[in-house]
Amino acid sequence: MAILRNSVRPTEASLWLMLAVLMVLFAGLAHGQTKNSCLACHSTLPDKNGVTEEQFSQDIHSQKGLTCTSCHGGDASSDDADQAMSRKAGWKGKVDRKQIPQLCGSCHSDPAYMRQHNPSLRTDQYSQYLTSVHGKRLAAGDTKVAVCTDCHSVHDLRAPSDPRSTVNPVNVATTCSRCHADAGLMAAYKIPTNQFAEYSKSVHRDALMVRGDLSAPTCTTCHGNHGATPPGIASVANVCSTCHVFQAQLFDSSPHKKAFELAGLPGCVTCHSNHGIVRPSDEFIGTGDKSVCTQCHTSGDAGYATAAKMKERLEQLATSIANADQILGKAERSGMEVSQAKLDLTQARDTLTKARVSIHSFNVQHLEADIKPGLDTAGKDYQAGQKALADRNYRRIGLAISLIAIGLVLVGLRLYIRQVEG
Ligand code: HEC
Ligand code: HEC
Ligand code: HEC
Ligand code: HEC
Ligand code: HEC
Ligand code: HEC
Ligand code: HEC
Ligand code: HEC
Ligand code: HEC
Repeated sequence: MAILRNSVRPTEASLWLMLAVLMVLFAGLAHGQTKNSCLACHSTLPDKNGVTEEQFSQDIHSQKGLTCTSCHGGDASSDDADQAMSRKAGWKGKVDRKQIPQLCGSCHSDPAYMRQHNPSLRTDQYSQYLTSVHGKRLAAGDTKVAVCTDCHSVHDLRAPSDPRSTVNPVNVATTCSRCHADAGLMAAYKIPTNQFAEYSKSVHRDALMVRGDLSAPTCTTCHGNHGATPPGIASVANVCSTCHVFQAQLFDSSPHKKAFELAGLPGCVTCHSNHGIVRPSDEFIGTGDKSVCTQCHTSGDAGYATAAKMKERLEQLATSIANADQILGKAERSGMEVSQAKLDLTQARDTLTKARVSIHSFNVQHLEADIKPGLDTAGKDYQAGQKALADRNYRRIGLAISLIAIGLVLVGLRLYIRQVEG
């Protein structure tokens, strides 16, 4: 028995040993595959050389299976700094600012490579960038301009659709402002640094950031994501007209189209500005202090006369609507049924909204034609209000007469009763 037992034991032990060796080997193999000595070491480094695991796990490249070596080269299986970061292992060292667009472009401009990962992703960022003021200046040796990582960040680079991405629409203006609102940095270029401050006051920023209207523009909507240039005179109108289609159509057929071109003025932004666009009011037209027309037109010329006339027409409609609204309100408060007229009045209000668009024809007849239905409706509604109030008065008089009649009857009755009692 003892002999038997002894002969079995070594076999059992060697089996366990073999299993243990296999497990160690396997674990080592698996470890070798995922080993990232770069991250392991760099996550312990301070300041600019530090890249933490938490940071890198947020990076779209890391999430898609790329590692430090995809961009920097080197040997990520070695814990030895010299070996890991040896030129022999392909380590490229620190990426020079001037080389960054090329590095990013080496993958992002390669349609065959990108298609394997995401066939719907564009591959023109680098070529677009080369046409931008940023790209052209970089090529000329100016490293203060934006390169890919200034806008996108690095090591925790997120897809633009992620609300925390530096290039998500809600963060773009802040990202650009890091340089464009920095007077010291921009001083050499002699261009304004007020774009962010102006944009922050604008109706567009308000729509995007306060009301969450993602159809409102941020910096890159007008300037392009990668081709950032100020739109030229010809393209400014196109920038605005992608969204404000009706105003643009009217402007194109207006006398200003040609006149502005001849004078070298851009279309919409001549009157509305580019960054600090505020919500216009009827005060913008006419001959008052706040009118934009009087910047160029003076008393006696045709434009001045048109400005005055258009203002008058807008005021006429606004006043008619206000009057109708007031009288309908009065009628309603005294219990009269005027809901249909009130409903019709919203149509007149729509006409006024439309009229504020059609001023862009800068043609009085055009405006008058658009305003007429509104004036008619407001007029009818005013009459409806008048009639309701007249009906109310009529009813009140009828009521008073019947009350007096009842009173008289009561008094008569009382007298009669007294007489009978007497
Ligand atoms: C054992 C630690 C260690 C490992 C492993 C390591 N590094 Fe480094 N790395 C450093 C230190 C320390 C520095 C700073 C050296 C200096 O400032 O001279 C550095 C610097 C760098 C720099 C900046 C170079 C510069 O000129 O500023 C890059 C890029 C870099 N490492 C990438 C990598 C990559 C990629 C790997 C993996 C293939 C890697 N490192 C592996 C410790 C390490
Ligand atoms: C998508 C490409 C990409 C990946 C992936 C990447 N890097 Fe970088 N890294 C860059 C670029 C580009 C720069 C230069 C940034 C700059 O100058 O604005 C840089 C800079 C650095 C620097 C120098 C920082 C400095 O300011 O001097 C270190 C160190 C570094 N990377 C380490 C790493 C490590 C470690 C990893 C992996 C955890 C990694 N990188 C992954 C592109 C990448
Ligand atoms: C080694 C190749 C490679 C390099 C170098 C590289 N990328 Fe990428 N990048 C990718 C891949 C792959 C994806 C993931 C695409 C996907 O699956 O959506 C990606 C995704 C992105 C995305 C998100 C796209 C989206 O909408 O989903 C951005 C932004 C981006 N990269 C910017 C950069 C920038 C900036 C650089 C330079 C610092 C850079 N990339 C360098 C390969 C690379
Ligand atoms: C001036 C800022 C800026 C610079 C510089 C910049 N980008 Fe972008 N990038 C953006 C913005 C903004 C978006 C779009 C966000 C969105 O879709 O709403 C974007 C989107 C992307 C995307 C997602 C796909 C797409 O085209 O919409 C990739 C990939 C990308 N950029 C790569 C690059 C590369 C590569 C470079 C350098 C050659 C670069 N970017 C330089 C601002 C910039
Ligand atoms: C890293 C700093 C930096 C960042 C970030 C940056 N820019 Fe620039 N940008 C510059 C510099 C520097 C110039 C060169 C100025 C010049 O040539 O007049 C410039 C030029 C421009 C110009 C041309 C101006 C002109 O009339 O010459 C436009 C337009 C522009 N940037 C838009 C943007 C937008 C939009 C963003 C954000 C998506 C942005 N930039 C982000 C630094 C930056
Ligand atoms: C509604 C469209 C629009 C938006 C949004 C917009 N811009 Fe502009 N931007 C323009 C136009 C148009 C010009 C051309 C100036 C001109 O001809 O009047 C311009 C000019 C510029 C210039 C050239 C210098 C100057 O001020 O004339 C820079 C730089 C610039 N914009 C940056 C920005 C930045 C940064 C943002 C975001 C904070 C931004 N822009 C938002 C339309 C826009
Ligand atoms: C990407 C689309 C888009 C672009 C491009 C755009 N806008 Fe707008 N605009 C909007 C949105 C959305 C609003 C908010 C509408 C609202 O408040 O009801 C708005 C509001 C306005 C208003 C105030 C409207 C009102 O009813 O009071 C004016 C004026 C204006 N934009 C002028 C311009 C000019 C001029 C340009 C070109 C320099 C321009 N917009 C470019 C989308 C755009
Ligand atoms: C000659 C000056 C002038 C030009 C050029 C001009 N506008 Fe206007 N715009 C005005 C005035 C004045 C108002 C105010 C109308 C009112 O509220 O009574 C206005 C109002 C607006 C409004 C808000 C009211 C509305 O709903 O229509 C928008 C949006 C607008 N303009 C866009 C544009 C666009 C886009 C262009 C270029 C295609 C443009 N404007 C060109 C003077 C101008
Ligand atoms: C930036 C300067 C400028 C502004 C602002 C401006 N105009 Fe003009 N306008 C011109 C020029 C230039 C002409 C063509 C020369 C002329 O007939 O006076 C013109 C022509 C006209 C005409 C055609 C005149 C004719 O002879 O048939 C009308 C109408 C007109 N403008 C109305 C307006 C109104 C209304 C406003 C304000 C909402 C306005 N303009 C704002 C520059 C301007």
